[in-house]
Amino acid sequence: MPATAASGSQACVVEIRRVRKRFADLIVLDDCSLTAQEGEILTLLGSSGCGKTTLLRCIAGFLKPDAGEIRIDGRDTVPVPVNRRPVGVVFQSYALFPHLTVANNVAYGLKMRGAPVEEIRERVAKALATVSLSGFEERYPSQLSGGQQQRVAIARVLVLEPRVLLLDEPFNALDAKLRGSMQVELRQLIKRLGITAIFVTHDQEEALTMSDRIAVMRAGRIEQLGTPEDIFDRPQTAYVADFVGASNFWEARAASGQITLPSGQIVATKLDGDVSLLIRPHNLALSSAGSSTWNGRIISRRHVGALMEYEVEAGATRPLRIAALRDVEATLLSTGEAVSINLRDPTACMAYPRP
Ligand SMILES: Nc1ncnc2c1ncn2[C@@H]1O[C@H](COP(=O)(O)OP(=O)(O)OP(=O)(O)O)[C@@H](O)[C@H]1O
Ligand SMILES: [Mg+2]
Repeated sequence: MPATAASGSQACVVEIRRVRKRFADLIVLDDCSLTAQEGEILTLLGSSGCGKTTLLRCIAGFLKPDAGEIRIDGRDTVPVPVNRRPVGVVFQSYALFPHLTVANNVAYGLKMRGAPVEEIRERVAKALATVSLSGFEERYPSQLSGGQQQRVAIARVLVLEPRVLLLDEPFNALDAKLRGSMQVELRQLIKRLGITAIFVTHDQEEALTMSDRIAVMRAGRIEQLGTPEDIFDRPQTAYVADFVGASNFWEARAASGQITLPSGQIVATKLDGDVSLLIRPHNLALSSAGSSTWNGRIISRRHVGALMEYEVEAGATRPLRIAALRDVEATLLSTGEAVSINLRDPTACMAYPRP
């Protein structure tokens, strides 16, 4: 591990500048630029096929970009072969060797590098302790749970003490509950070790949980790069707003810097003309009919954890999604009921121009 790894300074470790990659006629990466800072977990988030794995493979060295630069600690990596890059990759399928024990799986990379036997033993023990798998050395992968196999795959990479850890959808094979706990565990582990990590997922909740910053990708481009709060609360485009978090888009007209809702409430905007107004489901409040001039009817409701999410027909192109804490309103409102709608916080809305 580099001595500076846990210092928390803001040195730029990975710098990707104007990277392009095409396969035949298909442009897969189109002018991608981003940086990952020391000790940061940066997530590439985007729908299937948007280029996440391709970008990760370029960083790891399995693919060569057609144009652009990839620097690690300021050094151009493009001429550096895969096995000399200071990166470790955890692939989507863990690809453990089924015929090797846990200890030998983890030791594999060190043996390939010709490390002395005693050193290998010590480092494997340390890596397994790091992922809480001490005592599992002699088991085979088939004798482990999915989450344990996942941790062996991580230990196998950590044992090589990479400067940068690349993780490509590492939790795909896990059930929802295990996935949730592994997300927290892996984040804590990466933070404890002070490693710089680039994490790939198409799951927006996972990205919000895991990341210091998120790069939302769309068709080979970075659509927005920011903290989870930036991405969720201040999405720069309607695409990001729609991709990250549940959303309503209310179609309205902006005039003189104002958008007026049917409730009479006003949202300030810099736009003029036709707009789509992003209103998150928890930013709308329901009450009994007549208490607001914005009226609707509940067409369905469903339990989402501690929330009740209503679908409300209220004159929009799509029904509005409105979320309420269950203990407050769930007993009050039922399907078919006429309701009134109010916006909770006009400053928490975002407006986008409508073509
Ligand atoms: N070796 C290749 N040859 C041709 N096309 C490829 C190759 N690798 C990837 N592609 C194409 O490039 C695009 C991006 O692929 P990539 O694997 O980077 O997507 P992704 O964002 O990781 O998607 P997913 O979430 O499904 O894993 C896809 O359209 C894919 O079909
Ligand atoms: Mg992929």
